[in-house]
Amino acid sequence: MGKGKILVTGGTGYIGSHTVVELCNAGYEPIIIDNLSNSNINVLEGIKTITGHPVTYENIDCKDYNSLERFLEKHSEIVAIAHFAASKSVGESVNNPLLYYRNNILSLINLLQLMAKFNIKNIVFSSSCTVYGQADVLPVTEQTPIKPASSPYGSTKQMCETILQDAAFANKDLNAILLRYFNPIGAHPSAEIGELPNGIPNNLLPYITQTAAGIRKELSVFGDDYNTPDGSCIRDYINVVDLAKAHVVALNRMVEGQNKKNIEIFNLGTGEGVSVLEIIRTFEKATGVKVPYKIAPRRAGDIEKVWADTSYANKELGWKAETSLEDTLLSAWNWQKKLAEKNLGN
Ligand code: UD1
Repeated sequence: MGKGKILVTGGTGYIGSHTVVELCNAGYEPIIIDNLSNSNINVLEGIKTITGHPVTYENIDCKDYNSLERFLEKHSEIVAIAHFAASKSVGESVNNPLLYYRNNILSLINLLQLMAKFNIKNIVFSSSCTVYGQADVLPVTEQTPIKPASSPYGSTKQMCETILQDAAFANKDLNAILLRYFNPIGAHPSAEIGELPNGIPNNLLPYITQTAAGIRKELSVFGDDYNTPDGSCIRDYINVVDLAKAHVVALNRMVEGQNKKNIEIFNLGTGEGVSVLEIIRTFEKATGVKVPYKIAPRRAGDIEKVWADTSYANKELGWKAETSLEDTLLSAWNWQKKLAEKNLGN
């Protein structure tokens, strides 16, 4: 393993696990910490099957400063951190805001304090298009004004961005790249890892695949009266492996000293807006499986439409989303079928 150790917080989670695989492919040595609050330990087996070797893992909660400190004392020579560990359900955050502020803010503060102590200079942070709220002009660029967040989850992402900006201003040795994800979907083409939310899914794709598999009776399409061509909401759905690869590019950029400022922000999407009804139709076409659905009332906190202007990431990072929507939806379905084989579906 040549390129150094990367601490991956939340590395057994959905985006974290796919990034761990891409880090291994790129010659890094990822080490995972996760408290398994929204992931399953079996993910480590999937990673091992894909990469051919086990990845170091410890059950640590990033809110626990002392455990984190002890862990970092044991693991010297970490060149960068990819920080995924966070709560991410919009609806849950509305009902339980303090959980979100505690989890998402405290974890980042602990990490930043310990980075200074252990001389770790680089961090990639999982931000979100949620920071834009409902933008007036689409697609959104990194310069699009930040509107008030529509949920406590969104507030935590905005606050974490501010914390990172302030920390990077105060400490010029700190390099941070903030990646604003649009809607990550799909699974690894091997179907060894994918999205596995605990309990009833909140997000569209796991709900679709579980409905197609017969685990859920029908999908509720939240609203068909939005100001969009077919009335359903529009998002920018990005393949999770493409997204994971962007993390490797961002980490390379900092580790190799190619970053232009000590804090940089990139939109990670495809640049294409797709409606909920289009996703259902494309899923059915790609897989040949029907998704029973009904039109339901709008969901609180949803914005109408958002998609990314990705030209800055394309140009500066030399990165572009490559996988087609059909292939991505098929990968999500293959993962769902694999879960059924392993008896791991919900
Ligand atoms: C939200 C956040 C995003 C975050 C993600 C993490 C916003 C604007 N976006 O994405 O930043 O990364 O959560 O969880 O805050 N839908 C249905 N039926 C369902 C589920 C979803 O119709 O059963 C619709 C939603 O109304 C939405 C679309 O599908 O239009 C996508 O929803 P979802 O997958 O939950 O993601 P977002 O809410 O867009």
